[in-house]
Parts: sequence; C-alpha cells; structure tokens
Amino acid sequence: MSVTFKINDNLYRVGEDVASTTSLLDYIRQRLELRGTKYMCRQGGCGACIVTVVRDGITMSVNSCLVSITSCHNWDITTIERVGNRVQGYHPLQTTLADYNGSQCGYCSPGWVMAMYSLLKAKPNVTMLEIENSLASNICRCTGYRPILDAFKTFGSDSPKPTKIVDIEDLDVMCKKTGEMCIKKNCEESEWCMVSQDDVMATITIYLNDGRIWFRVQELCEIFNIFRTYGVDNYMLVGGNTAKGAYPIIEYPRILIDITGVPILKSYMIDQNLVVGAATTLTELISIFQDVSNDDDFKYLLVLIGHLREVAHIPVRNIGTIAGNLMIKHMHRDFASDVFLLFETVGAKLKIQNYMAAAPKIISLQQFLNEDMKGTVIVSVMLPPRNYSYRIYTEKVAPRAQNAHAIVNAGFLYKLDAHARVKECRIVYGGLSSVFIRAFKTESHLINKELFNNATLQGAVKILANEIIVTREPEEFNVEYKRRVALNLLYKGLLALCPKNILAPRYQSGAIKIHQTRPVSEGLQIFETNPKIWPLNQPIPKVEGLIQCSGEAMYTEDMSKIPYEVFAAFVLTTVGSGNIGHIDPSRALREPGVIAFYSAKDIPGLNTFTVPDIVNASADEKVLCDGKVAYFNQPLGVIVAETTYIANKAALMVDVTYSNVRQPITDVRVAKTIPSMYNFYLNIKPTETLNDVSKIIKGSQSIFNQYHFCLENLAAISWPSDQVLITSATTQFLSNIQYTASKVLALPQNTFFCKTRRAGGAYGYKLSRTGMLSTMSNLVAHKLNRPCRFITPIQVQMRAIGKRMQSSTNYEVGVNQDGMIQYINYDIFEDNGCIVNELLINLATDTYYNCYDKRRWNYTSYNAITDTPSNTWFRAPGTLETITTDEMIMERIAYELDLDHLDVRLANLDPEHASVIKGMVNTVKTRANYDTRKQEVSKYNKENRWKKRGLRFTIMTWSGQGPSNLNIILSVYYTDGTVTISHGGIELGQGINTKAIQVCAYFLGIPTSKIKIIPNNTHTSPNNLHTAASVTSQNVALGVQRCCEKLLAELAPLRLKMNNPTWEELIYSAFKSGMSLQVTSYVSPNEIFDYKVYGVTLAEVEIDVLTGQWEILRLDLLEDVGLSVSPEIDIGQIEGAFIQGLGYWTTENIVYKESGEIVTDSTWTYWVPQARDIPQDFRVYFRKGSFSQDIILGSKATAEPATCMAVVVPLAMREAMVSARSESGLSSTKWFQIDGPYTVEKIGLACETRPEDFKFY
Ligand SMILES: Cc1cc2nc3c(=O)[nH]c(=O)nc-3n(C[C@H](O)[C@H](O)[C@H](O)COP(=O)(O)OP(=O)(O)OC[C@H]3O[C@@H](n4cnc5c(N)ncnc54)[C@H](O)[C@@H]3O)c2cc1C
Ligand code: FES
Ligand code: FES
Repeated sequence: MSVTFKINDNLYRVGEDVASTTSLLDYIRQRLELRGTKYMCRQGGCGACIVTVVRDGITMSVNSCLVSITSCHNWDITTIERVGNRVQGYHPLQTTLADYNGSQCGYCSPGWVMAMYSLLKAKPNVTMLEIENSLASNICRCTGYRPILDAFKTFGSDSPKPTKIVDIEDLDVMCKKTGEMCIKKNCEESEWCMVSQDDVMATITIYLNDGRIWFRVQELCEIFNIFRTYGVDNYMLVGGNTAKGAYPIIEYPRILIDITGVPILKSYMIDQNLVVGAATTLTELISIFQDVSNDDDFKYLLVLIGHLREVAHIPVRNIGTIAGNLMIKHMHRDFASDVFLLFETVGAKLKIQNYMAAAPKIISLQQFLNEDMKGTVIVSVMLPPRNYSYRIYTEKVAPRAQNAHAIVNAGFLYKLDAHARVKECRIVYGGLSSVFIRAFKTESHLINKELFNNATLQGAVKILANEIIVTREPEEFNVEYKRRVALNLLYKGLLALCPKNILAPRYQSGAIKIHQTRPVSEGLQIFETNPKIWPLNQPIPKVEGLIQCSGEAMYTEDMSKIPYEVFAAFVLTTVGSGNIGHIDPSRALREPGVIAFYSAKDIPGLNTFTVPDIVNASADEKVLCDGKVAYFNQPLGVIVAETTYIANKAALMVDVTYSNVRQPITDVRVAKTIPSMYNFYLNIKPTETLNDVSKIIKGSQSIFNQYHFCLENLAAISWPSDQVLITSATTQFLSNIQYTASKVLALPQNTFFCKTRRAGGAYGYKLSRTGMLSTMSNLVAHKLNRPCRFITPIQVQMRAIGKRMQSSTNYEVGVNQDGMIQYINYDIFEDNGCIVNELLINLATDTYYNCYDKRRWNYTSYNAITDTPSNTWFRAPGTLETITTDEMIMERIAYELDLDHLDVRLANLDPEHASVIKGMVNTVKTRANYDTRKQEVSKYNKENRWKKRGLRFTIMTWSGQGPSNLNIILSVYYTDGTVTISHGGIELGQGINTKAIQVCAYFLGIPTSKIKIIPNNTHTSPNNLHTAASVTSQNVALGVQRCCEKLLAELAPLRLKMNNPTWEELIYSAFKSGMSLQVTSYVSPNEIFDYKVYGVTLAEVEIDVLTGQWEILRLDLLEDVGLSVSPEIDIGQIEGAFIQGLGYWTTENIVYKESGEIVTDSTWTYWVPQARDIPQDFRVYFRKGSFSQDIILGSKATAEPATCMAVVVPLAMREAMVSARSESGLSSTKWFQIDGPYTVEKIGLACETRPEDFKFY
C-alpha cells in the first residue's frame, strides 16, 4: 500500500520504499533533487524548509522537516521551484525580496518566500501588521530583518507602496481540468481531487523499510484494533508530528498511526460545552474559537485566541494538534505548555478512551497528568461556557517576542459577583516546576474577597509566595526569576482586569502586554550617493538576489547525490575532562548500514585542522581527541554509514570508557582566578597618569559565548576523481581546506582540489572550523575510495564547536568629579576555550581604549582557557570585547558620579578622534531630536511605575585588519566583450561579488550586466587567505581595479589607433591582434592601509518592570563607511551586524551543565532575534563626506563594527532599570552588575520589584 501526494503538480506515491524517518524535506531534496528548499535545524525552529501545502482544501505553510513523508497523503505541495524560476519567470515575492536586498547569504530566502507565499494564498488581504506578526516561523541571521519586512510589507492591503501581484490569483495554479485558477477550496473537479473518495476512506497500512508499520486510519475503533493486534508498548499516534521539534525523536516506535483522517477527532460541536476533537490543529482551534466567540457564553475564547497566537508559529500551528501538545506535557512535566495552561485555566475537561475500556472517561487536566495513557486516545476537549461574570487573563513570558516556549506562563480565572467579590477562582502556572500547576491556597484565600482591593492583593501575594514550588527545570531558566515573575504575573493579571476607574494612572502601564503595543515597524536609511561615479557608489540590489530568492543559488549541500556516496558523523566524548580509556565501536558497527569507524589512530598524517603559520593561528588543534579530553562533546571519532540518519544514530552507539574524570571549568570568571588557566599576552602602558582623583571605581565586566547560528550548517563533500581528491565545502578559507587535508592524509597539497560557491552565512564560523569536517570527509573518501558527505546537525555544532570568545575584565579607574579618567588599570581575560590557537586577542590591540583617551590607559590582556570547545572568529572578535566593556565602564562612571552619560563620554575622548566623534554625536542629536526625547523619557518614567524607558548613546572607534593574499583573474570574451571575474574572496552574503562587478564596470566603463563572477577554487586562487574581518570586499575591489587598469593599459595603444571604438569593437580587435584578454592581479598582505571606522548610536527602549520583557522603540545609528562602493549592500551589513549584536546582548544565552555539557543546543533552547525583536523604528545614516584612502577607493569596512554598537541596547535598558530600582528604594548611583546578555530574566530580576509595592490605587 502507499500514500499519494502531489509536489509541484506531479503525482508521487510512496510506501515500502521509505523509512519512518523520511521527512517531506528529505523526500523533496534527496529523492526529487529539488534542492531549492533549504534546511538547518530540522526542528521547526528556523523556517528554511517551509513549503506550501493544500490539505483538505486549505492552503497553509508547513515545515517540511517535521512532516513524515507518509503523512502527506492527498497533500498538494508547492516548493520554491514552482513559485518562480529563471525559465518561467520570477514571482513578485521573489523579485520584491531581491529588489529590497532582503537576501544576503540567501540561505534563508526560499523559506521566507514560501512562508509569505502561503500566507498570501491563505489570506490575500493581509495588513502590514498581520504580515509582520505572521513571520515568526523564519530566521534570518544576516539581514537583521529590516529589508525583508520592508519588502513583504508592500504586499499588505494597507501598504502605501503596494506591490501588485498581477492578479492575486497568480499565487494559485491553474486547474488542469477547468483551465481556470484553482483555489482548491471545496473543489471537486480540480487536480486536488486526484484521489477518489474511496481511496480517501480506505485505511492504509505500509510496511516501512526500517521495520516500522505505518497506518492511516479513519475511525477511532481502528486505532484500538491496531492496539489489540500489535500491543501498546511501542507506538505513536501521529498528529502533526511536530512534538519532535521540542523533544527530539531519535528512533520512531514500531507502530505509527496517522490519526489526522479520523473525523471524530477533528470535528467540533456545542452541547452545553464547546467540544473540540483532539486532533484539531492549533490553527483550526483558533478559527473555531473565533466562530464560537460570537456566543456570549464563549466570548472568553477571544482571550485564549490571543494566547494561542503566541504558541509556536504559523506552520507549526497549521499541523500541530491539541492532543499532541497535551501529550508533550504528559510526557515532560517541565514543559510549559500553553495549551495545557489555557485549558486548565478555564476548567476544560478531556474525553479519553482506552482500548480496553468499554466507555470513554471524562477527566480534568490535572487528572490527565496522572493518567496512564498507554493505549489511550485523547478524543476531545470540552470547554465550559463562561458568561460575563468570569474574568480571564493569561500571559506568556518568553525569552523573545515570538516563537519561543514560555519561561513562565500563567492563567487566571475569577468569577465575580456584582460587588467584584470572588466567587470562583483558578490560578494556573506553567514553567515553575513539574509539581506546581495550581495555586490552590491562593485561590481559597481569594474566595469571597473583594478582588480589586489593595489588602486582598497583598494577602494573595503573600500566600502565593509561600505556596509556589519552583525548580530549575528546564535548566535554561533562572529559578529566582521564575519565583518572582510568578508573583508579578498575579498582579499584572489583576491590573489588566481591574476597572480603569479604580486603577491609579501610575499603575496602568503594568496592565499592558509590552509586545502587543508594537506597531508596524519601520526603517530609514540615509546616505549620499554620487551619480557621477556610478556604478561605483551606486545603490543597487545584490547581483545574486534573485537566484537566492528562487532557491536556484547552490550551496555545498545542494550538490546532487553522488553514486556510492557515504555519510559521516562525529562521535563525541561524554565527559568534560579526563582521559579516554577504551573506545569500542562494535555496537555501532553492527548497526545495519554502518560502514566504518575511524578514530585518531586512523589518521595517517597530523591530527589537526588548523594552520599554525598564518591568520593569528599559533597551534595545531586536534580534529579528533586522542587521549586527554579537552571538553564535553569533543569529537573522538567518525562513524561512516549509508545515510546521514544512520551515521548520526550509530555515533551515539560507540562505547567509550574514561579515567581521571574531573569537573570541568566552563566559566571565564572562574578561569581567571586560576593562574594555570591564563597567560599574560600584552601590556600597553599609559603615557601619563593624572592625580585629580575624586573617586576610585573597581569592578569586573564579563560577557559570554555566542553561537554563530549560520542558516547553512557546516558541510563538506569529498570525492575521489582520476588524479585528485575534490572537496566542496562551505568555508571562508579554501586554502585551509586544502592545506589541512594534505596534513591529515600526509599527501602532497596538490592531491587536493577544493572549491566553494558561496556560504550560507559564516560570520567567522567557517573560517577554520569547517576544517574539522573537511579533513574527515577527505580521510573517509581516501580510505574507502567513495564520495563522503559530512554535514553536522545544529546540536553537534552547538556542542562540539567553538563560538564567540567569552571575556572578563577587571578594572580599576580613578576619575575626577567630572568623570574624567585620571588612570585606568584594565586587565582583560579572553577565553580561548580549550586551547590558545587563533590569537583573536591580538585584534583588540588597536581598540582597547575604544575612542577614549589612551594616554592614561594601562591595558593588559591575558589568554585564558576553559574546558570548552576552542573559541573562534565571530564578527568583530577582540574588538567587540574591549569596545563594549569600555562603554560599560563609561556608563558606570556616569551613574556613580551622577553625571550625564554623554558628558562623561565626551570628556574622556581621545584627542585623535574627538572632533570626528563630537561632530557625529551632534548629527545624531539633531536627527534623533535627542534633547526633547530625553525630557519625554524622564517624564514617562515619572508617570509610570511598571513600564520604564531608557535613552542612551554609545560611541565607537573601530580598527580593521589589513589586506591578505588574494588572486584575481579577469577574462574578457571577444565576441561580445562580456567579462568574467574569479577572485579569492568567498561570497558569504556580504555582497563581495556585487561590489567586484561595480568596481569592474566603473573602471572598464561597461554596464554591470556584462560582468559575471565565477566561483573560485584552489587552482585559480592558490594560497589565498580567509574571507574575514570585513576587509575582503575592499581587497577584492583593489584587485579588480588592478586587473582593469592592467587590461586598459594593454588596450590603450589599440584604442588610440581605433578612433573612439565601442567596448565590443575594441575587444574584438584586441583578440584579432593576438592579445590574451585575460589579466590577473594579486593583493599582498604586505600592503598596508590603515583607517578608523567611527560610529554613534542612540537607542530608546522600554521595559516591562513586572516581566523583564522589552521593546526597542527607536534606534538611530550613524556609521562612518567611507565612500561606500555599494550603499545598499553596506546598509544591509550594518543592519545585520547590529541585530547580531542585539542578540548577543539580549536573547542569546549559552548555558552549561556542571558536567560541562551544553544545555542550549538547538532552536528550542537558543534564541536569536527574530523580526519582532528588532527596533520598532530603525534608522541608519552614513557619515557625510567620509573617505578612507585612494587605494581602496575611499571605502571602509562595514560588516563588523556595528556589532559592537549594539551595546547601546543594554545601556538604554539600564536607564530604565535604574528608574524601576529607584522606585524600590535603591540608589541610582549604586552600580548593579549584569554579566552577559540582558535576558528577560536578568532585567526582571534587576528591577528588584517589591511585592509590597503591588497596588491598585
Ligand atoms: C518550533 C516549535 C515551537 C513550539 N512552541 C510552542 C509554544 O510556544 N507553546 C506550546 O505550548 N507548545 C509549543 N510547541 C509544541 C507544539 O504545540 C506541539 O509540537 C504540537 O501541538 C504537537 O502536536 P502534534 O499533532 O504535532 O503532535 P505529534 O508530534 O504528532 O504527537 C505528539 C505525541 O502526542 C501523542 N498523541 C497525538 N495525538 C494523540 C491523541 N489523540 N491521543 C493520545 N496521544 C496522542 C503521540 O503519540 C505523540 O507521542 C512548539 C513546537 C515547535 C516544533
Ligand atoms: S529545517 Fe525545518 S524549520 Fe529549520
Ligand atoms: S540572508 Fe538570511 S540567513 Fe543569510
């Protein structure tokens, strides 16, 4: 038997040929070779894999990574290839996204297009706000979202600049039968109805090729029959199959029963209660609630709808079911299920039926948790009527605005009499602990009390404080925060329900959910451009934009299957420190499909993936652990298998013994106190010390790891060819791939031919770390003489591979009464992870004083180590640590001396930079209307107790890296004068190819359309250094310029002779006269061009004092970019860099267990900013009239500096927090230390809210 579905109008059937683990994503990419659909997390957390599905006549977006292919029965699926392409023409969504520069690396772009395409198909008349709110399913790590939102907003029904989709129907496909547009809703004739009604009703049984049996049933009794036949020890009821996004499934059980076709589980009715089938999806549930809420007794469902819209995101809600969600809670008590919370708050009941029982049971949600669910099906949920006398409030506090599970969620139901006395009450919490759900004692206390009364409130809070039980599960959240926020939410809920005539105006802000105040966001980009020098300095879209938005741009893993290829996966250590005793792979090798296991002893050459003689690298880093374990989850071997799935599974089956295991040290703050864990690196002495010291401030500032979160995972594919081993890898450093392969295999370097097309995000991650995989893919290909594909899942990347360095600075600063630094002793400890190799510490040497007076700066840097993966390059390494720490110190001086933060900064400026910085500060002050807004913020803070605002400046001087070895080849074709360029840089999303084309067109005087960029390789670009540190674009521009000048010089005599020929005529004649029409150039590391990049940023934020949640109301960023070669590309770099920095300072938190194991290893636990986390109003300006040096056409680096400027956000948050703390009686001149990201939890805790201040009036 089989299931049938359509993909892009073609009919497919699958059955015994697939496994339980074959997802729709795998099928699309691997079977059909439709590689336009991308993937990263495989857990519904990134959106790269979204496709459009028509199921039961409804169009929707779906995460193809979550769906089993056998779930797709009768689905009609559209992938990015069908939406638009270079042959049939591009879709307006694709062209608009490209035109707005909404793609940088482009790896996320097809997913965005598909999410938006599905949204418009499902709901053609969406407003701009609806569009912004609907994109929580997708992550972009490059752009910072601004251009994506601006592009998609043009499809809003209320857009002032609407993009026409010629007909909205062109979003749909033609009906094959009628020849008309088919919207596939209730359609009996169109191709959707490809399966006869009989087929639809038939039960399907499939014996999958991995021994599982897949059933698709139509009746409840069929489920029970299957239980009777096969037992109930090893089965799963498959609803949306999305729960694995939260709690991964390594192996599916033997019996899989698709219950989505059982009508009774999908229907709803109202008897006295609203009864909804348990297999109803969350999207359907919202729609049912919407319909039923017209009834007075069910108006309360509107509150639940608001909350349900915060559950996951649209594609997950489209297929994830009620029962599936409740069952996660049943299996994992610490799961803060929003669905469970809502149902328990309103007193819903569940109807469940066991296969052995004669009749179903009706149980409460609490009873459900204690019910043995083996062989039991949740049939429906019953929601009771709740008339106007009931008041309901629910709240979800999550680490970011959308698509994150709750840290704590809460629901409150109060039945009130005419005097607002409590007659019935339910207080429900999620996230506090597995054992605490209902606050029964607090509920009883409230009965018969007047609810909106200060004394009642105080009494309730005291009882609640004593009754709640909070534990540290899940481990990523802070216990004390959860305890405090639980109390705050009780108060917040009451504020929201309290009649406005009772509530004092100062407290009203506490009733507002901060994210719900967020309007449609907007942006402004202001720069000058000089048309006289166009195409140089011309704002143009990225040249690859369209092929990225259509999925046609190829990335490493998009290479089609190679015959006989094998797949590799790392085996990781399971202790954080110790020695490997014995490795026994026999269990893994017995697993069907496993081919080989290699450990360090199988490496014929050097066990290293780094290059010690270049790029600040100073040591050989081991590919595989060969004895002493350096950190938890260090790779110790490689499993090779017939599929990635088998390789990853078998990697967990290698048995390893360890000795001398000790507790690892993962925190740089601990490492810096242990002399054996750090080494002196550099001291820069002050040239003067002043004596007017009125205050000495001592302290320490630490920041932690950040995961790069590239949308394209690390991947390397190696295959033997006739003379060489070829490797295609996602990398920023091709020569490293070649060099390290040669070292590992002890073969000559020319045995290896390495190439890459582009990388799907890199940010420093793929500079050296890809070598961990590529050395091994080469080893496997060499040993087995078969192609080897090595792709690391996100969990392995987050666990086994290094990140942004942690750093910790001890400082002592003496200041006069104006806050002017008289002396400063500044000791920074940079955490390299387990080994000191890449000397990123060196990069801080030019920026240690940021823009402040270095004469009095006594700077000492130390290289520290911890028992963690070796840390590596990440946007603005070294510079970010010092610049942001300096800004924190300036802030502290201002607070402790009660001075204006900007005055303190300006008083301390380095004379070398002072005039530029002051000019830029004044520009921002004027543009941002600073003086007025400053007064408004202070007025707002006086008037509001529970929301606070902060407005802060930060300033920056950034210093870049010099050039590095780079080859450029420029070829011209004689028939039409078209040009190709191959350069040693790698397109990572930074627009290097676009800039190369603009420079070439400018110098040759030809249109940009005549130029194309050809991928490079280790033959065309031998020994080329990495693409990193924001300087490769300028180096490539320099090399292209040199090629053009060489060519023009060669053509000059001929041009003279020819009397003003066209370019085409000139080239044709040159060819005829025997010229080669190919030129090369080289940029050498010995060339030095030095410049500074200046930046000034002003942020206004608002925080919710009761929860710690925040919004950035406005952000003004002025950066000095020199003469921008390509202004729109540079705007994109700045916006993207800033938002990465924003994530670093707010949502991105790496948590280690005591064992050294990382807890935060997935999109379920690690949160990068999403579209609704960025500033509501984001304005970027370029400094006017700036120019670096002629040699690099006046340009400056843009990709890194803005990351450092994001420190302005925590600084603004501090002002808001200080205002809140002052109301709790804490002095504003007393510094409170916050290390690492200003998470919702840390903000909430730092506000030091006192429950005794909870009042209505
Ligand atoms: C990215 C992401 C974000 C999320 N965010 C949130 C969030 O913010 N808040 C929140 O509350 N949840 C969140 N979730 C969880 C989400 O709501 C659930 O994954 C979804 O509802 C599960 O439904 P499903 O049909 O896919 O379950 P499945 O994965 O199909 O099944 C899950 C389990 O339920 C059992 N089951 C299914 N149906 C029945 C039934 N009728 N009777 C008995 N057992 C049954 C199955 O046997 C299986 O063990 C998120 C999930 C993802 C992937
Ligand atoms: S790969 Fe499917 S959501 Fe990330
Ligand atoms: S362009 Fe979005 S992740 Fe790179």
